[in-house]
Amino acid sequence: MADSFKIDFQGPGKVQSGDLIVFVGEDLKPTSTVAKQLGAKAVDLIAKAAAAENFKGKAKSAMSIVVPAGLPVDRLIVVGIGGEKERAALDFVQLGGLIAGKLNGKLATAVLDLPGTNVTPDAVADMALGAQLRRYSFDRYKTKKKDDDTAKTGGRLVFSVADPAAVKKVYKAREGVQQGVIIARDLVNEPPNVLGPQEFAARAQALTKLGVEVEILDDRAMKKLGMQALLGVAQGSVRGGRVAIMRWNGGKAGEQPIAFIGKGVVFDSGGISIKPGAGMEDMKGDMAGAACVVGLMHALASRKAKANVVGAIGLVENMPDGNAQRPGDIVTTMSGQTIEIINTDAEGRLVLADVLWYVQDRFKPKFMIDLATLTGAILVALAQEYAGLFSNNDELSERLTAAGKATGERVWRMPLGPEFDKMIESKFADMKNSAGRFGGSSTAAALLQRFVNDVPWAHLDIAGTAMGSPATEINKGWSSGWGVRLLDRLVRDHYEA
Ligand code: BES
Ligand code: MN
Ligand code: ZN
Repeated sequence: MADSFKIDFQGPGKVQSGDLIVFVGEDLKPTSTVAKQLGAKAVDLIAKAAAAENFKGKAKSAMSIVVPAGLPVDRLIVVGIGGEKERAALDFVQLGGLIAGKLNGKLATAVLDLPGTNVTPDAVADMALGAQLRRYSFDRYKTKKKDDDTAKTGGRLVFSVADPAAVKKVYKAREGVQQGVIIARDLVNEPPNVLGPQEFAARAQALTKLGVEVEILDDRAMKKLGMQALLGVAQGSVRGGRVAIMRWNGGKAGEQPIAFIGKGVVFDSGGISIKPGAGMEDMKGDMAGAACVVGLMHALASRKAKANVVGAIGLVENMPDGNAQRPGDIVTTMSGQTIEIINTDAEGRLVLADVLWYVQDRFKPKFMIDLATLTGAILVALAQEYAGLFSNNDELSERLTAAGKATGERVWRMPLGPEFDKMIESKFADMKNSAGRFGGSSTAAALLQRFVNDVPWAHLDIAGTAMGSPATEINKGWSSGWGVRLLDRLVRDHYEA
């Protein structure tokens, strides 16, 4: 939930009150506009404060100075942008987040005349996006507000730029992305008692307001289609499963769509192969893939992306009741292939097997990208720094890698191949759902690959990046909304007419 924090853009002009955000390099000199406005006294003040605080003007650093009487503003927030090299490579989303983290709920103005940087309207919109994301916090269930909470809400951040009209235009599209990230974060943060498969589907349904066509498959509809793998996971829960299909038709009529598929396990207890108790509460986040797809569809629809896009999410709860699936069970997937259940905690791949098959069969997409908090093993390999990328297509992989570098939501390609495919062979069925610890992320991906045929496909294992996330400049933590910015960028760069 975003607070009442507001962002505006205005032309150059004198800053009369509130906080002034001052950018300095390693020489600690404010930009010429700011220096002219504040005078020599303020320039001295910055130099003195920097010496006292050991502030060197490096990128990613900042300090606040309460100014003495006689100056027109209340506070200077001095933000480092470093030397020449650092300036050229500034990450404006992160910079916006850093600034927002220094605000105190009042008016603040940032004068964006940064020498040696390329502050395009795109860059300013990115800063505004980063600032908004930093201000996000999930406190819907806190009934008591702490004193210092109120100081951190509200306020107004004004960017003073040469051409505010141009920036406003770009920011309008960026706002959809920002809301998309926040939608994804909210979904991941919501507790599992509140957000079951049905409630999640209702959140997807809300996208109809933006012109997205939404269809919901309930247990009966899925049974008719033969989605026994997905239903097998759902059968241990008193809450039924759902598949939500979202369609945004912003491209040419009849043009093949691109497709995004998300794992939506609203709570993963492990089922009969139950997980240990410690940390099990985190498994409310096992629907982060589905949350990303909903957030992405919101972003694309609200900025009226010129592309035909399908989003499909498999929503289930993995629980261990008397009707739950057992190790040893064999299920027949919608594709007709059979899977022996070795471990009921390897449930995500079962859900995705049916949804992937359904999407490639019905929509014949140009490509499919699935997102899933699929394996703990991906945390062992890549920590929380990269999502695992598994793909049958080099071009799609390269494009995802580039979009990852551009947005900071980075992916790292991992191996697929006959070795891993062989490891999931089963004594009793066409395949088994778990091949043990070794190469756990690759064997999981190998199972998914059996349900995509020849469609260009990429699987993103986001167990490390989308939940339990550390705090960053643009996120206070836990739920990051990972993937919305990445995939919006991918679509923007390559798939819009
Ligand atoms: N949802 C988990 C994976 C997970 C782990 C997500 C940690 C986020 C953080 C998944 O369903 C799971 O339980 N995977 C098992 C697979 C194993 C039983 C083959 C795992 O990774 O241990
Ligand atoms: Mn599991
Ligand atoms: Zn899971």
